[in-house]
Amino acid sequence: MAEYDYDVLIIGAGPGGYVAAIRAAQLGLNTACVESRETLGGTCLNVGCIPSKAMLHASELYDEAASGKLAKLGIKAQVELDLGTMHGQRVDAVKGLTGGIEFLFKKNKVTWLKGFGSFVDAHTVKVGDQTVTAKNIVIATGSSVTPLPGVTVDQQVIVDSTGALELPKVPEHLVVIGGGVIGLELGSVWRRLGAKVTVVEFLDQILPGMDDDVRKEANKIFKKQGIAFKLSTKVTSAAVKDGKAVLTVEPAAGGAAETIEADAVLVAIGRRPNTEGLNLAAAGVETNARGQIETDHSFRTKVPGVWAVGDVIPGPMLAHKAEDEGIAVAENIAGLTGIVNHDVIPSVVYTMPEIAGVGLTEAQAKAKGEVKVGKFPMMANSRAKTNHEPDGFVKVIADAKSDRVLGVWCIASVAGTMIAQAAQAMEFGATSEDIAYTCHAHPTHSEAIKEAAMAVTGKPIHI
Ligand code: FAD
Ligand code: NAI
Repeated sequence: MAEYDYDVLIIGAGPGGYVAAIRAAQLGLNTACVESRETLGGTCLNVGCIPSKAMLHASELYDEAASGKLAKLGIKAQVELDLGTMHGQRVDAVKGLTGGIEFLFKKNKVTWLKGFGSFVDAHTVKVGDQTVTAKNIVIATGSSVTPLPGVTVDQQVIVDSTGALELPKVPEHLVVIGGGVIGLELGSVWRRLGAKVTVVEFLDQILPGMDDDVRKEANKIFKKQGIAFKLSTKVTSAAVKDGKAVLTVEPAAGGAAETIEADAVLVAIGRRPNTEGLNLAAAGVETNARGQIETDHSFRTKVPGVWAVGDVIPGPMLAHKAEDEGIAVAENIAGLTGIVNHDVIPSVVYTMPEIAGVGLTEAQAKAKGEVKVGKFPMMANSRAKTNHEPDGFVKVIADAKSDRVLGVWCIASVAGTMIAQAAQAMEFGATSEDIAYTCHAHPTHSEAIKEAAMAVTGKPIHI
């Protein structure tokens, strides 16, 4: 009889956990995955990436029709919002994809242990009434919304991202607390559907962590679209009365308070790792000051046989980062070499235009040495111009001596798709010249990346 019930037991079936489970099973390991949700796929498929993109896509099409953008192309339509149907297609998208993971589990013979898992020891996990053992345990429990003291989420008037995806009617005034990725994506959804949106951000600029030029330009574009910003401002309290919220805000540095009324408030000030209830102490696993589980480059924790991936470990809280770590951890457990290059993880904000980046910001690159920067405006890109998408630019940052590309940043309608080529180039150690001399199809938005790379040496053609 085998010493353990499973070769690998994964706790959490988000992009980190479910991908790890499938890869482990593909590699011939006897694999189980513990998940407490009714459906697989974690935050990303159930209440994150997928439902938000379903609402972003639908609301963008509505906005194009309602705002007269389509009429300018000769497409005249009487437009009416059917929010129920819009929500329905979101629910269908989630159902289809989460069901798809269940199918993949069956196909690959991954056992789904339904329930909440907690450690008994480093090789034993309790799931409901069941106790299972495994040679290797991967913690992939993800993250959840960071609460804001003084502001209680009731999912009616004051909502988190999950509630904001499901609002039953368009609020007249939506206040978003936090000018990060969630605030701007979901703020954009409701702005397009007719809400007045005010974003309250603690810092002096939105989108922390992104390149400064990108942050400034994005702020300008969102303002032009009608989103109001209160930067360097903190929310100190929120009260709900007669179905409306009254927020008290004051300058981040201190000063006179003011009140803002809202029909809905979205709290989006970040996410924190899920370790509560896991009984990590029983396994001997510790968390750092930010509540994360630290691992080495192979995703091993300090406890032999216990591994961790995804939002619960340090690094950007992104689905594709979790997925790549999921593959790598399974390969490492199987005795292969699983590697993730954390220096080249693209990030994308799926607004219109999209905002994307990979590698270092200009400030980060300059802190490391001398750099050369090439910039190219989307206004000068033939396809963007033809499609009436003039906003944004591409910026390529290269090492001044070696010309190696250190970072690429884009604001463009399809920046999320464009950034993949930059990530691939950087993964291969490309120079800006490599990109500049790579033939790009015409007319495409991606030509802007080529021209920005040409601009690094001062030789773009179309500007
Ligand atoms: P999760 O997806 O959080 O999955 C963890 C799973 O573990 C959950 O299903 C949870 O129920 C389960 N679990 C936790 N503890 C236990 C336990 N003890 N026992 C059993 N099960 C447990 N990222 C992108 O890259 N692109 C996007 O467009 C994007 N959009 C987003 C939009 C929103 C609104 C949000 C909130 C997030 C978005 N993200 C996006 C982030 C992305 O969802 C996360 O980075 C990703 O889901 C992390 O994957 P994970 O596997 O680490 O954890
Ligand atoms: P975030 O970290 O992106 O942004 C939070 C913002 O809130 C920051 O700008 C921060 O300065 C601000 N803030 C913090 N405390 C505040 C306060 N008290 N008052 C006002 N502002 C305050 O976090 P967000 O948007 O909640 O998203 C969480 C995570 O989910 C992100 O780390 C992101 O990686 C992931 N995500 C990714 C998406 C994507 O890849 N497209 C989409 C949505 C989420």
